[in-house]
Amino acid sequence: MLKKIYHLGYAVEDIAAAARFYEEHFGVQVGEPEEVAEQGIVATMFEVGESMVELVQPTRPDSPVGRFLQKRGEGFHHVAFQVEDLQASLKELKESGVELIDEEPRVGASGARMAFVHPKGAHGVLTELVELPSDKR
Ligand code: CO
Repeated sequence: MLKKIYHLGYAVEDIAAAARFYEEHFGVQVGEPEEVAEQGIVATMFEVGESMVELVQPTRPDSPVGRFLQKRGEGFHHVAFQVEDLQASLKELKESGVELIDEEPRVGASGARMAFVHPKGAHGVLTELVELPSDKR
């Protein structure tokens, strides 16, 4: 089901400061932040080889990432696996009893189709599945 680690998501208080940190000290190029209003976040990415790191800042304290920051502080938030067929993967997981946050794909940053698996059902790790438009046949 899984093609690769697409990105790791970091929850940050200040996306501009975090982007500057990785640019200055690790020499990466961070993209323009993009707001995903539905999720209450602004997010951006930088490449690390074939994978990426996603920096996520909440735009409101009551969004899921806002609540995460209040409870846990900054740090690792989720892993995103790239899948071939998101709809089929969600169906397979649901049928085998895995608890999902999103039973249907939704549209995330950059227009990619994505869905979250509940961390309770995934040994404590919030797990995102992503299907890229280029994977569509
Ligand atoms: Co993500």
